[in-house]
Amino acid sequence: MKRPIVLTGITTSGSPHLGNYVGAIKPAIDASKKENNNSFFFLADYHAIVKTKDSKRIAQSTLEIASAWIALGLDPTQVTFYRQSDIPEITELSWILNTIAAKGLLNRAHAYKSAVQQNLAAKEDEDAGISMGLFGYPVLMAADILMFNAEVVPVGKDQVQHIEMARDIAQRFNHLYGKTFELPNAQIDQKTSVLTGLDGRKMSKSYDNTIPLFCTESQLKKYINKIKTNLLEPGESKDPNDSIIFEIWTAFATEEDSEFMRLAFKDGIGWGDAKQKLFHLINGSLIEARETYFQLLNKPEDIEEILNEGSKKARPLAQSRIKKIRESIGLKPLF
Ligand code: TRP
Repeated sequence: MKRPIVLTGITTSGSPHLGNYVGAIKPAIDASKKENNNSFFFLADYHAIVKTKDSKRIAQSTLEIASAWIALGLDPTQVTFYRQSDIPEITELSWILNTIAAKGLLNRAHAYKSAVQQNLAAKEDEDAGISMGLFGYPVLMAADILMFNAEVVPVGKDQVQHIEMARDIAQRFNHLYGKTFELPNAQIDQKTSVLTGLDGRKMSKSYDNTIPLFCTESQLKKYINKIKTNLLEPGESKDPNDSIIFEIWTAFATEEDSEFMRLAFKDGIGWGDAKQKLFHLINGSLIEARETYFQLLNKPEDIEEILNEGSKKARPLAQSRIKKIRESIGLKPLF
């Protein structure tokens, strides 16, 4: 039986944070351990240059995010683990898909729309600071996915619209040139696919409200203490569904421990106490990986080697697919 292709990427524009772990890294690694999956995981560095022009940060983030994947148990011999910019066929496909994607479709992308809204709110020109890269971000993402015919894409809820756009673009291509692409499906962990950040907005590098995945214990404690809470005193019953602490708790806890915490909230656990318990839970689940992570950061040549091996697996697949795609759209030798 054909093994379903699972694919996901992380943008290399910052340090890995708890949101990356819960939304992409953990579900992806779990999926890769199921024998019947064929997994593709990559570092989305061409997406990163849309978000930041700080070249040092991109290079450092690539090392950090790759190290995080490996430290958390990704086995690069069992999956295809690569850097997006090592596979130029992806950007080639992105251009081809640009000629198919409707501008009206991309006008509806949340990230683009919110950038326009922010400009209008600031009484700026609606296009101020918006690059074609930002506008076309979903098309590059479609190319990532369709290049390898991925069917299952584990992502946070905020990315679901992008997967739907990839489906739309794939359908249009198939309609014009004959069946070429499988239609991808987003896979979201209903419970916790997008974590809330310290300030109550989505946890994201763009908002600078993240809790780093790997830092020292005392830093982790400090971050957790910064999580926003309300003014309820110990002893007063609290609503777990309205708490970032509880939300992050359930992302790391077993069902049993989540139930335990739900009751503790009802019984009026104090915020300080809840934060301390959360620290112990997160710290306990990351303690081993943290050590490996910091060791890997000092061995960039090992990470580079792993990525080179990954592109040796990914690139021939991409080359043979792009050859067929080019032919089907009429880009081929004359005889
Ligand atoms: N845009 C995604 C994010 O910011 C990262 C990403 C890029 C991705 N290409 C992808 C995720 C393809 C899944 C599939 O989280």
